[in-house]
Amino acid sequence: MRAVLHRGHGGPEILEPVSLPDPEPGPGEVLIAVRAAAVNRLDLLQRRGPGLLPHFSLPHVPGMDVAGDVVALGAGVHQRRVGDRVLVNPALHCGHCAGCRSGDDAWCAGLRVVGGNRPGGYAELTVVPADRTHAIPATLDHVAAASLPTAYGMAWQGLVVRGGLRAGETLMVHGAGSGITIAAVQLARALGARVLVTSGSRAKLDRMAELGADVLIDTATSDLVTRARAATGGAGVDLVFDHVGPALFQASLHALRPRGRLVFCGDTTGTSATFDLPHAFHTGVTLLGAGSCGAADFATMVDFCLDRALIPVPDTSYPLADAAHAHRRVASGAAFGKVTLLPGSSA
Ligand SMILES: NC(=O)c1ccc[n+]([C@@H]2O[C@H](COP(=O)([O-])OP(=O)(O)OC[C@H]3O[C@@H](n4cnc5c(N)ncnc54)[C@H](OP(=O)(O)O)[C@@H]3O)[C@@H](O)[C@H]2O)c1
Ligand SMILES: [Zn+2]
Repeated sequence: MRAVLHRGHGGPEILEPVSLPDPEPGPGEVLIAVRAAAVNRLDLLQRRGPGLLPHFSLPHVPGMDVAGDVVALGAGVHQRRVGDRVLVNPALHCGHCAGCRSGDDAWCAGLRVVGGNRPGGYAELTVVPADRTHAIPATLDHVAAASLPTAYGMAWQGLVVRGGLRAGETLMVHGAGSGITIAAVQLARALGARVLVTSGSRAKLDRMAELGADVLIDTATSDLVTRARAATGGAGVDLVFDHVGPALFQASLHALRPRGRLVFCGDTTGTSATFDLPHAFHTGVTLLGAGSCGAADFATMVDFCLDRALIPVPDTSYPLADAAHAHRRVASGAAFGKVTLLPGSSA
């Protein structure tokens, strides 16, 4: 099969189109012909190094977000048939660590991630456990399906599982170009929340308005906290979902109402944040870290998105061999929505 891997760490140019032996499904696994694989920030971070998932090894075939067709079944697989159209939950929980045994598989100590620390979707074929595949309807194309797992799983974990967002509450989310923000806006609107979006790009905010964002805050021309308070009658927002990190962490806290919640899940702008402790404890806000979804929550998220016909926003698709261009597109910050690779395409 054709695949793209990197043998070391560096710029996009180290992404190398190669031929590899076709993988074979083991017991409980399915072989998937990958029709689309979305590019995630983690792909770029691990290509560049040194921030790596535990158990990462080289050479590495990236690609956490996979959609495709089942083409072969391993022994004992009964829940899938050859020809099924599926998307993949990339988080493979070990099933026997303390977190998994307690029912909290989102806190799995032995987590394996398709395309994170095992081979992923930058390939014509990939093997995954059958119980991590989810059937997709014919109405959802492969590009949209591949755009769903990480962005919508992360947004679901942040807003619903950790953040407890309820109908009628006000959410603020940063970074209008990010797939996670787009997912958060769609999910929050579907849950009946009011949504404030912040961005340094007017053009991206205009696209957010088309997706139903209620209040647009241009951080290049206005003060985020002042605008958030003005938009909530001076009270502050109920929940902030922050995947940007230190650049906006303090502002996020000050935009909250007393007893509000700040869910954080990203380090795009760095790994250490400084904030005003007295403000945080006097207002009694809650800080909630959010990592990846557990398997049951992921399944609930997929059902919710399919029921509500939430369609991820596509940015640009590239043939597999152009993975370096796809990485440059994501790194440029110009994308709005998901960048995808099409392993079946030679265009
Ligand atoms: N915890 C987990 O399990 C998990 C899972 C998935 C992702 N993540 C993390 O979530 C984050 C988001 O990932 P992503 O790929 O969707 O998006 P991303 O490409 O990392 O971030 C995109 C947006 O962040 C905003 N941004 C960047 N620098 C900024 C700055 N200095 N000040 C304010 N805003 C800034 C920009 O928004 P504008 O262009 O609109 O200004 C940009 O479009 C990443 O850190 C990723 O590692 C975590
Ligand atoms: Zn585990």
